[in-house]
Amino acid sequence: MGIEVVVEGLTKSFGTQTVWHDVTLTLPPGEVSVMLGPSGTGKTVFLKSVIGLLKPERGRVLVGGVDMVNSPERDIYEARKLFGLMFQDGALFGSMNLFDNIAFPLREHTRKKESEIRRIVMERIDMVGLVGSEGKLPGEISGGMRKRAGLARALVLDPQIILCDEPDSGLDPVRTSYLSQLLIDLNAQIDATMLIVTHNLDIAATVPDNMGMLFRRELVAFGPRELLLTSEEPVVRQFLSGRRAGPIGMSEEKDEATLAREQLNPGDAAPAPPRIVPQLEPSPGLPPRQAVQRRRARVLEMWDQLPPHARQAIQSGFRAVPVRGEPV
Ligand SMILES: Nc1ncnc2c1ncn2[C@@H]1O[C@H](COP(=O)(O)OP(=O)(O)O)[C@@H](O)[C@H]1O
Ligand SMILES: [Mg+2]
Repeated sequence: MGIEVVVEGLTKSFGTQTVWHDVTLTLPPGEVSVMLGPSGTGKTVFLKSVIGLLKPERGRVLVGGVDMVNSPERDIYEARKLFGLMFQDGALFGSMNLFDNIAFPLREHTRKKESEIRRIVMERIDMVGLVGSEGKLPGEISGGMRKRAGLARALVLDPQIILCDEPDSGLDPVRTSYLSQLLIDLNAQIDATMLIVTHNLDIAATVPDNMGMLFRRELVAFGPRELLLTSEEPVVRQFLSGRRAGPIGMSEEKDEATLAREQLNPGDAAPAPPRIVPQLEPSPGLPPRQAVQRRRARVLEMWDQLPPHARQAIQSGFRAVPVRGEPV
């Protein structure tokens, strides 16, 4: 089963520029979470901080007893093996075929025999639907296939936590929905804790159990997907509806004058709340996601803190997917 990732009061700067400050959230074990945010808000920096590749100035990231910020470097190095990271650009070696690219972490970090490596690599290649392409070079396949190869490589060391940096970038809408299904199927098969960084609204609407958003150097919100999808926070509403009107501008933030003008145009400034579509289910033949039951118990525990719109949305989700043995 996936393990919990606890982020507490995390603050990261480069020189005098603060990327974000005081970020606190918990990735529940085995659940899928999405982090949204406009470009440049520090989503990639956040992923790199979680696996200890970047050092925030303040705060902690607790993963199975190790603090990925402050523990000794050798402990962080060991704990990093719990993670699988899918980079934004796939980050494949151009001169190696897909098989060797995907086998790379196994050859680098384990002493497994070549026959065992072949078994694991082919299993992962099958999981991401690339059987038959293992001999191809990255330059000979489509962007969508490269993404899937990057995902297969992130999976070979049996990670308990999977981090994906914009898995949809450069993909068309159809390829993006295949990828969304693949992420849910993967979660059903290995029950890993997953964090997906994206600004794709379709992934945000259909994949995660939990959602968060970074904006203006802060974590605006983090919680069950329904909390964000029904949020009345202007920046969340604007982002999820993809509208121009609102706090997010072309280059970073809008000035006060522009915002004031928009206030005079309320019809334009107040997008309707998005319709909540059901979360994707694993493909037929796969086991149910184990996280579903755990999440239900967890959400019921925080019921009193949730706003009414979020509760309604959660309740209709519960009705749509009855849990076995529980009265509907
Ligand atoms: N190694 C670095 N050194 C200095 N500044 C950086 C470094 N990495 C990222 N940044 C800055 O941090 C900010 C957030 O970047 P990033 O995490 O890549 O944003 P996102 O992934 O949300 O588009 C940007 O302003 C970027 O220029
Ligand atoms: Mg990025």
